[in-house]
Amino acid sequence: MQTQIVGGNKLSVELKDGVYWVGAIDWNIRDFHGYTTPKGTTYNAYLIVDEKIVVVDTVKHGFFDDMLRGIKEIVDPREIDYVVSNHVEKDHSGSLSDIMRLAKNAEIYATGRGKEGLIKYFKQDWTFNIVKTGDELNIGKKNLMFIEAPMLHWPDSMFTYIKEDRILLPNDAFGQHIATHQRFDDEVKDVMEDAATYYANILMPLAPLILKKIEEIVNLGIKIDMIGPSHGIIWRKEPEKIINAYIDWSKGVARDKILIVYDTMWGSTEKIARSILRGINKEGVEAKLLKLRENHRSAVIKEVLDSKVVLVGSPTINNGIFPTVADFLTYLKGLKPKKKIGATFGSYGWGGGACKVIEKELREIGFEVLDANLEFKYVPDESELERCVEFGKELVKKL
Ligand code: FEO
Repeated sequence: MQTQIVGGNKLSVELKDGVYWVGAIDWNIRDFHGYTTPKGTTYNAYLIVDEKIVVVDTVKHGFFDDMLRGIKEIVDPREIDYVVSNHVEKDHSGSLSDIMRLAKNAEIYATGRGKEGLIKYFKQDWTFNIVKTGDELNIGKKNLMFIEAPMLHWPDSMFTYIKEDRILLPNDAFGQHIATHQRFDDEVKDVMEDAATYYANILMPLAPLILKKIEEIVNLGIKIDMIGPSHGIIWRKEPEKIINAYIDWSKGVARDKILIVYDTMWGSTEKIARSILRGINKEGVEAKLLKLRENHRSAVIKEVLDSKVVLVGSPTINNGIFPTVADFLTYLKGLKPKKKIGATFGSYGWGGGACKVIEKELREIGFEVLDANLEFKYVPDESELERCVEFGKELVKKL
C-alpha cells in the first residue's frame, strides 16, 4: 500500500490493483461556499489502469498540478482513454479542460445533464458518451457500471462502480471535509464526526432521495468493499458503517440530546438559555449551548443533526429577531431537518415578538413546537429564571 507523504516522493495512492487516488489536498480552504471547513478538504480524483486508462473526476482549478504529478507516477496522461465526470460542480470538473488538453483522444462519460453542464461550463466540442443507470463500460479486465443519482446532490450527479474491485465512487456522497495526508478511514480519528458535519450541511435536505438511492443500490445487487468519495478519506475498513449512518441520518434518527441555540444583545437571552441548561443538567441529559455569534452556522447544523430537541432563543430587535438567529433559521429551513421538537425563548425591551417569529419558522420547517412561554421583559428576575430551570427539567421528562 502506498501512502502519500507530504514532502515525500509519492503523490498517488493505490486503492486496489490498478486503481489509484490521484487527487489533491486543499489544506487552507476555510469557506466552502458558505460552509466553514476548519480542517480544509481534498478533491479526490481516481485513475483506473487496465487495457484502457480511465480518470474518474478531476480536481478544483488551481490544484491540477498535484493531480497531474500523481497520474504521471503511473501512466503518461496523454494515454488516458476515458474521463468519467460524476459531477459537474467545479471542485470536481475544474481541471477537466486541463486533462482534455493533454489527453487529446479521450472521451467523456457523463449523464445527459452532466454533458449539458460541462458544455455550459467549458464550451468545448469534446466527445461525450451519455450514460444511464446500469450502463457498463468495459476497460479490459475491469468493468465500470454507472448509477445516475439526480439531486444527490445536483441534477447531473452520478456514481461509478468498479465491479471487479467492488469499489463505489459516489462523488459527493459519503464525503467529509478533511485535509490529511492519510487516505483511509482506518488511518484517521473522528472521521464519523466530520462525515456527520458534511451530511448535515450538504445532504440533509436530500434525505428521502438518499434512502431511495441506497435501496436501489441494494436492489442492483452491488457489493461494496470500498467507497471512494470525492472529498476526504476513503472508506475501506467499514464501508457499511457510513452507509448505515446515512440511513439513520436520513430517517431522522437522533439521540436524547437537547441543543440550545441563541444569540443575545445585553445578556438577558443568554441568562434564560443558561437557566434552561441548568434544568436539563439536573436531569442528567446531554445538552449543548451554542451562541450564534461564536459558532458558525455549519457547526451548529451538525449538532442539530443528532439532537432530538432544538431550542432557539433571540432578543427582540426592530420588532423581529436578531440577525444571527435569522441567518441560522434561513440555513435550517433550507436543510429541512426531520422529526425535531423545538421551543423558543427570548427577551425584549418594550414590544417583544421574537419568539413568535421563531416559532412560525420552526413550524414551517416541520418542527413540533412546544409552548414554552419564556419571553421576558428587560432582565429576567430570579422567579423567571426559576421557570426556565423548571422548563429544562420538564423538557427532559418529555424525552
Ligand atoms: Fe458538489 Fe464537491 O461538489
